[in-house]
Amino acid sequence: GTKWNNPIPNDDFLIVGHRGASAYEPENTIPAFELAKNLGADYIELDIHMTKDGELVIMHDKDVKRTTESKGKIKDHTLAELKELTADEKKGEKVAVSSQEEAYDIPMLREVLEEMEDDVRFVIELKDPEEYEGIEEKLVSMMKDYGLFANDENGYPKAVIHSFDEESLQKVHRLNKDIPLLQLISFDDGEEAVMSKEELNELLTYAIGVGVSYEALNAKFVSAMHQADIIVFAYTVDDREEAVKLQAMGVDGIHTNKPDLLTTTD
Ligand code: G3P
Ligand code: CA
Repeated sequence: GTKWNNPIPNDDFLIVGHRGASAYEPENTIPAFELAKNLGADYIELDIHMTKDGELVIMHDKDVKRTTESKGKIKDHTLAELKELTADEKKGEKVAVSSQEEAYDIPMLREVLEEMEDDVRFVIELKDPEEYEGIEEKLVSMMKDYGLFANDENGYPKAVIHSFDEESLQKVHRLNKDIPLLQLISFDDGEEAVMSKEELNELLTYAIGVGVSYEALNAKFVSAMHQADIIVFAYTVDDREEAVKLQAMGVDGIHTNKPDLLTTTD
């Protein structure tokens, strides 16, 4: 079996709501997470950063500029300062659906775990962790507080961590060997996913899976990963045909901004 504890059954194809249902609600906000859950996502993906006063908050970029009305780095703002902002903008255009503006406050990780931990599973991304001294310790201790080290009744981990930053994942692994970790890997345009024996041996020392840009994925890579008990997720897939193709390739799940892409009728 895999180090997922219970392997993903062959016919199970996990849908990870990327930044929530971010095609339909502002990314990385509570309405986006709630909608992903309601659309049946198996996991909700979110990105974390740390404020000046050491709080974990959810946003994709390390700068507030793209998704709020303000600018500047998260690490140069206190939580109170960030809570004044509204994360409902995209390139200057309001995209919020809910009429309650406070719904689009920048969420703290703690708030999302408190509101949603019983109903959903999480894929938490350590984003730009080199910027934030001690963020791994904070995350691990918060996951412990919320009982996220366990598997749920279906045998799936309640939370996994992923990151492009290998060092940061290895640090988490040293802190707690039970947290399932996924290494994000990007390949250049037109490049096919490959992994050398050395890279694979290294990966096996800390991770249970990889997240790979879907364009680079191929059946040979997926089966090599599976032979080594490594789970494969594809990011970010919003097209139904692509999703079906990846499922046929044996990929274990996709990250999508549209968690309903396989169930919707249009
Ligand atoms: O789905 C993988 C993804 O989370 C990594 O890319 O930039 O959306 O965080 P990004
Ligand atoms: Ca992410």
